Amino acid sequence: MNWEEVYTSAKQWVIEAGEIIRASFKRTLTIRTKSNPNDLVTDIDQQIEQFFISKIRERYPEHKIMGEEGFADRIEQLDGIVWLIDPIDGTMNFIHQQRNFAISIGIYEHGIGKVGIIYDVVHDELYHAVRGNGAYLNDQPLQPLKERAVKESIIALNATWVMENHRINHQLLIPLVRDARGTRSYGSAALELVYVATGRVDAYLSMRLSPWDVAAGAVLVEELGGVVTNLKGEKLDFISRNSLFAAKPGLHQVILEKYLKKGNW
Ligand code: IPD
Ligand code: CA
Ligand code: CA
Ligand code: CA
Repeated sequence: MNWEEVYTSAKQWVIEAGEIIRASFKRTLTIRTKSNPNDLVTDIDQQIEQFFISKIRERYPEHKIMGEEGFADRIEQLDGIVWLIDPIDGTMNFIHQQRNFAISIGIYEHGIGKVGIIYDVVHDELYHAVRGNGAYLNDQPLQPLKERAVKESIIALNATWVMENHRINHQLLIPLVRDARGTRSYGSAALELVYVATGRVDAYLSMRLSPWDVAAGAVLVEELGGVVTNLKGEKLDFISRNSLFAAKPGLHQVILEKYLKKGNW
């Protein structure tokens, strides 16, 4: 596989998709709900997913595609080359704020992340990496992540975990929130992973995410020396929904040992 060519095509299509999204700001969106009244999808989410699928099927008919909005393939295992696509990550932000959302594309070969691309459309910031070749923001190389103490860390997490008491003991997170310097919540898993990759936050925790939410971000974070697992510290399989814990090297182990290990996540 000519990864350089796949990488170049993917970046080009992501930029084109970003132009379609920017143009949509001028018109009225069609908004529908999915599993619950807060689970939103717009015609643009669907249009962008279909845009990528048609480009990939035309250029790489042998590749498989997993996507959030249901137009892609039914994927049960990650053999061969699989594109994991979230056409708009942060749809609620896209609708309510017209910012704080991103396009996220991970390309995996036999379950290993090869390419990660996340495009912050509004800021025109393209984050991209090919495994083993460094990670970039537009043309600028991103710096490897350095260790950091919990007490100097900013941790991204979503307040919905306070509702999760029936499943897990969320009280276990209170000491971590207390010991950290601060917490943040941006409403886009892809951007929160990019913020770990760029050091804007030091760690990101989430109770439940889908493979397309994390596929690209995991490549970027790992390329810079960060660690990406579930909240138990186990590897992700990128097939099923799972919890997520991404952090700077060192910090990941400390948070896991000191705060998360007791949890039944
Ligand atoms: C959502 C965002 C959000 C996360 C949700 C995801 P979507 O993705 O990443 O930050 O908390 O779990 O579903 O639906 O906007 O693509
Ligand atoms: Ca969604
Ligand atoms: Ca998403
Ligand atoms: Ca989405």
